[in-house]
Formats: sequence, C-alpha cells, structure tokens
Amino acid sequence: MCGIVGYTGPRQAYPLIIKGLKRLEYRGYDSSGVALLNGTGLKVFKKKGRVTDLEEAVIGKNLEANIGIGHTRWATHGEPSDRNAHPHSSASGKLAIIHNGIIENYAQIKQELVKKGYSFTSDTDTEVLLNFIEDIQKNNSCTLEEALRIALKRVSGAYCILLIDQDDPTTIVAARKGSPLVIGIGKGEHFLASDASPIIEYTKEVVYVNDYELAIVKPDELILKNLGNEKVTPYITKLDMELAAIEKGGYDHFMIKEIFEQPSTIYDCLRGRLDAEAGAIRMSGIEKNIEQLKNANRIMIIACGTSWHAGLVAEYIIEELCRIPVEVEYASEFRYRNPIVNKGDVIIAISQSGETADTLVALEKAKENGAFIFGIVNVVGSSIARISHAGAYTHAGPEIGVASTKAFTGQLAVLFMVALKIAQEKGTISTERFNNLVNELSEIPEKVDAILKNAEEVKKIAEVYKNASDFLFLGRGYNFPVALEGALKLKEISYIHAEGYPAAEMKHGPIALVDDTLPVVFIATKDTYHEKIVSNMQEIKARRGKIISIVTEGDEVSPGLSDHYFSIPPADELIAPILTVIPLQLLSYYVGTAKGIDVDKPRNLAKSVTVE
Ligand code: AGP
Ligand code: GLU
Repeated sequence: MCGIVGYTGPRQAYPLIIKGLKRLEYRGYDSSGVALLNGTGLKVFKKKGRVTDLEEAVIGKNLEANIGIGHTRWATHGEPSDRNAHPHSSASGKLAIIHNGIIENYAQIKQELVKKGYSFTSDTDTEVLLNFIEDIQKNNSCTLEEALRIALKRVSGAYCILLIDQDDPTTIVAARKGSPLVIGIGKGEHFLASDASPIIEYTKEVVYVNDYELAIVKPDELILKNLGNEKVTPYITKLDMELAAIEKGGYDHFMIKEIFEQPSTIYDCLRGRLDAEAGAIRMSGIEKNIEQLKNANRIMIIACGTSWHAGLVAEYIIEELCRIPVEVEYASEFRYRNPIVNKGDVIIAISQSGETADTLVALEKAKENGAFIFGIVNVVGSSIARISHAGAYTHAGPEIGVASTKAFTGQLAVLFMVALKIAQEKGTISTERFNNLVNELSEIPEKVDAILKNAEEVKKIAEVYKNASDFLFLGRGYNFPVALEGALKLKEISYIHAEGYPAAEMKHGPIALVDDTLPVVFIATKDTYHEKIVSNMQEIKARRGKIISIVTEGDEVSPGLSDHYFSIPPADELIAPILTVIPLQLLSYYVGTAKGIDVDKPRNLAKSVTVE
C-alpha cells in the first residue's frame, strides 16, 4: 500500500512532506507526488519512479507553502505513470486529493460523471472519487467536508484520503476506512501520515483516526467527526515506538508483519470479485476471455519458486473443477527447451514481482507461438502484467520480506476464483458445489486470523527443532505442493536443508533418511487422503522419525501419532492449502529467528530474480 503525508502550520510544507515520503518508502511504491497551496493557488507536482525523481522534477519551481499533501503510490487502478500518480486535481482545478486504498464502485460512479460531461486525465479510481466529491459540492453548494461526507456514504472500498481546497488554504480534510491515518498534534501545527514514522521527529502526541471518521485539520484546530456529522473526541496517545519499529508496524521483521497481514490481504484480493451472498465471482479478465479459457485444450502454468508451488496447487484444482489438462512448468526449464506451444494454448503466468527474468522470457517465447497469456501478478504495471493479454492482480500490497508469504496466499485466492469461474462457465461444477466453495473462500480471512492467534504454539515447536540439520515435509493431493512450499520457506529462512515430497513417495527411497534425528512435517488435515496420510505417519513413527503434523481441529487420530501438532480450522480440501501453508510460514520464521538469522534478507537471495 502507499504512503500519505500532510502538513498544515507555520513551517515550509514541501521539505517536511518529502522527508516524510522518504520515511514511508519502505512500504513500497511506484510513483510519488506533492500538492502545495500558497498565495498563488494550488500547485501539483508528481512523477513516476522514486521520490528523488520527484525532487529532481521540481528543481527551480516555487515550492513556498505552509500547507501541503504528499503521496507515494502503489498502483491498483491504472499503471504506474506520471499522469496516474497522486495528487490528482479536480475538474475545476481547485481541489487536490491523495488516496491510499481501492474504491470498488469507481467504474459506476465514473460512468455517471462522464454522462454529466466530466473527463478524466488518469485511469485511477482516485480521480473519480475527487470529481464525485466536487460534483456534490457544486450541486449542493456545500462545504468540502459536507461533500466528502455525502460522497463517502455512496462509496464502497478502502480509503485513507487527504483533500485540500484552494478556497480554504489552511485546512486539510481527511477521512479513513480500512487504510491507516495518524495525525500528529503539534503547537499551532498538525501532521498527517499513513503511520507515525514521518511524524515522530516533530511530536509524539498522535491521534489514530478510526474507520468512518473524518478529520478537519487546521494549524491550530483538529475536529474529528463521524459520517453522521457528529463530533468525536480525539483520543491522543503518546508514541512509544522507535522509528525502525514503526516501519514494521511494531513487528520484529517485515516477514512476520506480512504473515500477519494475510487475513486483510486475502480479503483485499477477494474484494469486489467474490460475492458469497449472490453466489457470484466477478473477474473481468476471465469474463472477457471466457470462450478461450473454457475451450482451452490445455492450460500451461509458468512460474518460479513459490509462485510455481501456487501453480501446482492450481493444477489439482483446475483439473478437478474444470476438467482441462494442466501442465506446470518451471519457467527456467521452459525457456531453454523446445516446448510445444500451439496457437490457442492458454498460459497462466504467476509472479509476485512481475519482473522474474526466467518467467518473462518464457512468456515472450510462448506469446511468439500464439499462446494466450493470463497473468496473476502482485505488482501493478510490472513487465509480466504488461506482456499478458489479460490477468488479475493479487492486491497483496508490497511484499518486502524476501520470502514470499502473503503473495502466495493471494495467488491461491485468485487461482481458486479463476478455476471456479471457468468451471461455472463450462458447466463442469454443480451450482451447489460452486456456492459451497464460494462460501468456503469467503470464510478464509477469518480462518487465517484464527490460525495466527495460535502462532505462539508454532514458535514453541520451532524452539524444539531449530537445531535439526534436515527436515522432510510430506503432503498428499492439494497439500503436496504445500509440502514443497513449506520446505522452500524453511530452506530460505533458516538455511536448514529441507525437502518436500508426496507422502506416498517415501517408500520409493526417501524413507531411508528417517531416523530419530529427522523431523518430518506432515500436512495431515481431514480430507480424502487422510487415512493414507495416517499410514504414512505410522511408517515414519515405526522408524523413530520425529513427527510434526498440521491437523484439522477435532482430529483424534493424527495428533496421537505426532510428537508435536498444530490444529487448523476445517475447510474443503480444495481450499485447504491457503490455510495449511500458514503454520509452515510461521515455522520457517520462528526457526530462522531462533537461529539469529535476518529473515527479511536471507543470504544469497534477492526479492526479485531479474537476472538469469
Ligand atoms: C519465494 O519465497 C522466493 N522468494 C522465490 O522462490 C520467489 O517465489 C521466486 O523467485 C519467484 O518470484 P516471483 O513470484 O516474483 O516471480
Ligand atoms: N487505488 C489508487 C490508485 O491506484 C491508490 C493506490 C494506493 O493505495 O497507492 O491510484
């Protein structure tokens, strides 16, 4: 998600805002901008790229101002570009806005505004919101605050927004729902930001704005109201975190912060697409290409690393639900062999960064042969997103930790929806099963939250096994790829050798590894394979292997065979991987930190492998 900074008071706003945006760079972004109000009116400067690029672009400009708003954008609607960067100016040129979040119903609002004669300079949902607000202000001859309140009653989605108005050159109007907003209380001045890191050097007295609250902020006055126009008493707290801790939201590492973000990032991924009440999935990238997708002779999935594991899960799901043959290819292998790719073949490309060199080159090769590319990417406007004919973003927000966690579960959520949507259109799934799975998917964020509440149990298990020299991860069916992912996470983060295997494969050789020093992690949740997994656990137990198992709450068999176990909520086996991976992410994190490793930057690894 992006960064927001605002200031009103006696200081020069521009240098303070730029410094604040740099404090928020850790959140990840693709462009930045600043809007300033001074005697000569509203000035907006914005630029794709780094904050330093913005600084270069404004050299020589008149930046005098005692009020301003600044933004680092993480694009969700409209690729990264100068014109899509924030702040956006309204049609009249009098208002400027910055926004963190997603306006879900922006397309409908945009249609209404276009009919009224509005035109737009960007592809963003944010510009639509701004002109909606201005349209209300004009038609009701009301204040900016009142227009905002009326607009927000119509808008759905997540937002933290700051607005400034040329006709009221000391006031910032702000509102939040779902995206954070902190207001620093100074003497005759106020600071606003996405978190306290741009504020802490000026004041430690802050107000955390709550959802559905508006703030009217002047140099010497802060008024909080709810959407019902009732005043709310600001609750002032004293900051006790150091800067470094603030960037990680109070967590020790970005990786654990991102693991704990998953209830909301999965919800963001489903938002606007999964409608459990209506029993519907809306994905324009699928709908516009449904004939090609549902009539595909085969689907190839091309990816690397954790994204490749997501592809393996998808293979099981798409073949089960859509009855279309699926092949999952390592991009690095695909690109160098002479693969058979026919016109009309469908390729699903999976990538968090959207910049992985092997995946990008493999896709270019496939595209030359006439394949249709559907991209599932986290970074909006990235190279893989741009080379794809269609796609769906995972909306997991910037993933800073090198080990992919929230992006993986975002990929699974998108892949589940893609498979369900195609199966529904193909008629290879009953309405009842479709509705059941849609409901199951809608319950995932709260089930992930429930798992994370017991994270300390995983930490205790990690303490016991942190000095092991090898691990085995075993799973069957939909959970076999999760076993591979668990092994990869542990390798990456703790430098312990770990292998993932189909549990039934043990008897074909790997069981020779088993002795009383070898921890074996079983994904033993209740599903059609459970009895077989129990047999595999008994095989390991008979050879004195140490068993750690991920079990379904209420399972009375697997825990009895385990040295340690961790229970997760029940879920349809097809969707279970999005839950079973969570304790494995935690296990790798707690083993790595117990070994004193910098888990955000593990040795030899890069966040995005943009080289061969
Ligand atoms: C996963 O934890 C690793 N960081 C790595 O395997 C990663 O998944 C792989 O490099 C693919 O990256 P991408 O998803 O950005 O294409
Ligand atoms: N949805 C807005 C956009 O795409 C804001 C994204 C953000 O949070 O930075 O411009």
